[in-house]
Amino acid sequence: GCGGDDGDSGSGGGDGKLVLGFSQVGAESGWRTANTKSIQESAASAGVELKFSDAQGKQENQIKAIRNFITQRVDVIAFSPVVESGWDTVLKEAKDANIPVILTDRAVDSQDTSLYKTFIGSDFVLEGKKAGEWLVKDYEGKTDPVNIVELQGTPGAAPANDRKAGFADVIKADPKFKVVASQTGQFTRTDGKQVMETFLKAQPKIDVLYAHNDDMGLGAIEAIEAAGKKPGTDIKIITVDAVKDGMTALSEGKINYIVECSPLLGPQLMDLAKKVKAGETVPQRVLTEETTFTPEQAKAVLAERKY
Ligand code: AHR
Repeated sequence: GCGGDDGDSGSGGGDGKLVLGFSQVGAESGWRTANTKSIQESAASAGVELKFSDAQGKQENQIKAIRNFITQRVDVIAFSPVVESGWDTVLKEAKDANIPVILTDRAVDSQDTSLYKTFIGSDFVLEGKKAGEWLVKDYEGKTDPVNIVELQGTPGAAPANDRKAGFADVIKADPKFKVVASQTGQFTRTDGKQVMETFLKAQPKIDVLYAHNDDMGLGAIEAIEAAGKKPGTDIKIITVDAVKDGMTALSEGKINYIVECSPLLGPQLMDLAKKVKAGETVPQRVLTEETTFTPEQAKAVLAERKY
C-alpha cells in the first residue's frame, strides 16, 4: 500500500490518513515557492500524507507523476497544470481508476469537466483586467500614445493566456494604448531581465511595462536600471502576484501597481481533498480572494507580508 508498511493495498494509508498526490509546476518564481510551502505546511497540520512531486516546468513530468499516483492508488490527486492543453488522456486514466482530481491554481482546457472534481485558484482574466484598469485610470485625460511592452508568463499556461487576454480586453477601449512588444519571460527573473534588455534595445520609446508576475518585473527592473533609466518613473511598471520582493519594489516606487494573486492555497486544498474523499459534493469552482496594491498600500502591509 502507499500509506504505510502494514500491507494495506487499498487507497489511503493503513493509519487512515488521507494520501494526497500533488504535482507541482516547478520552482520558477517566488509565488511558486510560497505556494509549495503553503501546501506542504497545511498537509502536515491537516494530518494529510502528501506525496509531492516537482515537474520542473515540464508537462511530460507531470503526466508521469500523475500516472505514478494512480499506480500507487493515492486517495486524491491534485496538480497545478504547467500548460492548459493536453490533459484529457491522463485525467481519463485517473477517472477510470476512481481517483478524484483537484485542479490547483491553474485550469485545464478539457471540455469534459467530469474529469476533475473541482478547481481552486484565482481568476487570471480578472487579474489582467485589473492591471488594465489601473493603466486606463493612470492615463485618464491624456491623448499621447502610450507604448506598452509585455512580459508574458510560460507559453500555454493559463495565467499567461488569461492575464494577456484580460489586459488586452480593457486597454483596447482606447487606441492610444499600444502593446509594441510582447514576449514570454517564462515567469522567471532571469528571462524577465533578458527579454527586457532586448525590448530596451529594439524599442525607441517604452512608457509602460506589464509583467505577468513580480519576478519578471524584478528582472526587468535590473535591465532598466542598467540602461540608465528609472523604473517606476521613466517606465511605469505593473505586475501580478504581490510576493514580498515585489511589494518591496512597489513600496520603493520601482513598481507602480501590483495585482495580487494569492499562493496560499494549501488550507483550502486540504479541506477540499478531505471532502472529495468523503464523497461530499464540492463546488466546481473555488475562487481565491485577492486585492490590488499601490505603493502606499504596499508600505502599510510590507512588514507583515509572510511571503
Ligand atoms: O499560476 C500562478 C503563476 O505561476 C504565478 O502568478 C506566477 O508567479 C507563477 O509562476
